[in-house]
Amino acid sequence: MTGIVLLGPPGAGKGTVSKVFAEKGFVHVSTGELLRDQIRQKTPAGIEAKLRLDQGKFVSDKIVVEMVRDLLKNTDSTQKFLFDGFPRTLIQAKELDAILQSFGGKLAAIIQLDCPDEVIIERLSGRRVCNKCGSVYHLSHNPPSSEGKCDFDGSILQLRPDDTSETIKKRLAIYAEQTAPLIDYYRSSGLIRRIDASLTIEEVRCAVLERLA
Ligand code: AP5
Ligand code: MG
Repeated sequence: MTGIVLLGPPGAGKGTVSKVFAEKGFVHVSTGELLRDQIRQKTPAGIEAKLRLDQGKFVSDKIVVEMVRDLLKNTDSTQKFLFDGFPRTLIQAKELDAILQSFGGKLAAIIQLDCPDEVIIERLSGRRVCNKCGSVYHLSHNPPSSEGKCDFDGSILQLRPDDTSETIKKRLAIYAEQTAPLIDYYRSSGLIRRIDASLTIEEVRCAVLERLA
């Protein structure tokens, strides 16, 4: 089992760039998406998580690690995983090492997406999502073909509840405090590959493909 970690602040484009990895056979593991699924299904974990997501706060390490462990438990050793938004804390990073080790696997790369706060704020305030199929758009950088409607199922696109300006600022602060230190944690592994995520979607895509070659 091989893993690649996508490390980057909210709105850096982790979900968008993950398509490149899916094309390369990686299974996309987004803890944010998994949590939103739990919320939609109103599971106990989802009910507990909703308030924290809406406020831009992290969900407990215990819930998130359990979710990831559960997802990986029936996979075969040849599978490749892209971790998007996981790990976000030192505890999660150590747990991921342990999980991979228990499968005889390891991390192949840490893709660090660098993006300044002003670009992030513009991206998240212009982001629109389809609550039915999860597709992600941007009002100007990646608009749907028909205004306000999902290309895939025609649902009305919405602002994510945690994309208000106040919550975006809080998410950025929590990222700086709790997740950015993971760069130091991974530095000695020599696996970090930095990408300028402020470039266009196509340019970021090409940069990732170059790093994967
Ligand atoms: P999560 O869903 O992971 O949110 P996030 O990390 O805040 O990141 P986003 O999904 O908001 O942004 P993104 O980097 O994926 O950008 P996107 O591609 O959409 O987590 C949500 C919440 O769940 C957390 O706040 C927390 O509460 C909880 N949670 C999740 N994981 C957890 C964990 N491990 N531990 C604890 N709690 C956890 O792009 C953004 C916009 O920009 C889009 O509109 C897109 O079209 C556009 N765009 C993308 N790339 C470009 C580009 N290159 N140029 C122009 N526009 C672009
Ligand atoms: Mg995302």
